[in-house]
Amino acid sequence: MSGLRADAFISDPRVVEARRLVLEALADHQKETTRVRPADPALRVSYEELIQQFGEMRGGPLFFPYLGSGFGNHALVELADGSVKYDFITGIGVHAFGHCHPALVEASFGAALEDTIMQGNLQQNASAVPIFRMLIEGANRKGARLKHCFLSTSGAMANENALKIIFQKKHPAGRLLAFKNCFMGRTLAISQVTDKPEYREGLPPTLNVDYVPFFDAARPKESTYEAVAVLRRHLEGHPGEYAGMVFELIQGEGGFYPGERDFFVALMQVAKEAGVAVLIDEVQTFGRTTELFSFQYFELDEYVDVVTVGKSTQVCATIFREEFRPGPGLVSQTFTSGTSSIHAAAAILDMLLTGGFLGPEGKIAQFHAHFEERLKEIGERHPGWLEGPFGIGAMVAFTVFDGSVDLTKKFLHALFEAGVIAFYAGSDPSRVRFLIPALAVSFGDIDAVSAILEKTLEQIAPAG
Ligand SMILES: Cc1ncc(COP(=O)(O)O)c(C=O)c1O
Repeated sequence: MSGLRADAFISDPRVVEARRLVLEALADHQKETTRVRPADPALRVSYEELIQQFGEMRGGPLFFPYLGSGFGNHALVELADGSVKYDFITGIGVHAFGHCHPALVEASFGAALEDTIMQGNLQQNASAVPIFRMLIEGANRKGARLKHCFLSTSGAMANENALKIIFQKKHPAGRLLAFKNCFMGRTLAISQVTDKPEYREGLPPTLNVDYVPFFDAARPKESTYEAVAVLRRHLEGHPGEYAGMVFELIQGEGGFYPGERDFFVALMQVAKEAGVAVLIDEVQTFGRTTELFSFQYFELDEYVDVVTVGKSTQVCATIFREEFRPGPGLVSQTFTSGTSSIHAAAAILDMLLTGGFLGPEGKIAQFHAHFEERLKEIGERHPGWLEGPFGIGAMVAFTVFDGSVDLTKKFLHALFEAGVIAFYAGSDPSRVRFLIPALAVSFGDIDAVSAILEKTLEQIAPAG
């Protein structure tokens, strides 16, 4: 026993028993939630009103009429209208562990016993230290040289902190490089990097960003050559002015387009020679390839200066090399994270690292292969309905019919009604995208989802 009152409290037999009872009750109720279920007609009107009011209050309608009840069973989620659906988009990649995963209910239970809801720079609890250590050690497990970690509350904020430490280190260089079609977040500064002009309409310009074309799998050599040529042109046009280049190794919002190692190495070498820092944005990719970080999947460890993570980690973080250690006051936040996020993050990293998920034969690779096989079968049965699948690991996408935004959205809404939640990404063509709950899914879930996908395609297939 440590002698700490905190330890005496959490190991008090009443607390231990309460934890056991919560998990026992959870298992019993999850047994009642094992398949897709339509909405309860008795809840329909009140649910529609709730959705309507919520849309009004937030100043814009929801994409899906989704309000969760707060309960679920791994890949299945219960909505407040009583329906149960397969969640294959997981809040755009946030709930990689699905819904009500017992390990995370247990972690959150532990967090609820701590003294504070939020933690921050001035008040961090000892229970937060392991997550800093796990992120740094995890980032270096294949040879990267990242030394420090700073937590924050959103992916955009992790990226904002990354840019600040890079600009400070490279001062007075004030320009950035990024890929065409990249997504980095939506703060005032970061929305200048995200390559979607409509997301920054009416905003004053805050950063100078120049773009490099992304890898084209249909023209690997040529597209690498072209991207390097564009990069060199930018560097020659603004010598010494670029502080960093942002790399999103698998374009997420862009539609799940992965690059290749040789492509990234060619660009990173040129960037490094010009003194440009390499920032890897893993807010969407972390824990979803067959490695912890996608830079490990592409074997780019030696090039990484700064990497950011978020979404499935529950905490967001900026992890960086010693040379990028910021001066006092540059990065600081009242909230680094919530106590339950910190406990959950440690449980998730532990699951990812020890649960057989990673590696070329790991569970993520197996789930991907299984889903890919089902989707290919659907494509073969219905030529012209589905192109793909695309993506890596827990990131899976395909194009439906002509890939028009309208038809893709129509398909997604019909799919939602039928009991599967997915989302779209990219444009020209748009893709249906899945961020599957790899820590919670089963092969049976993938089969059930694939059957619903096929039925929904039949339902909305254009005549003729
Ligand atoms: C690659 C990437 N970076 C950054 C972000 C922004 O993260 P957040 O929405 O948590 O601010 C996202 C969100 O989708 C993302 O996909």
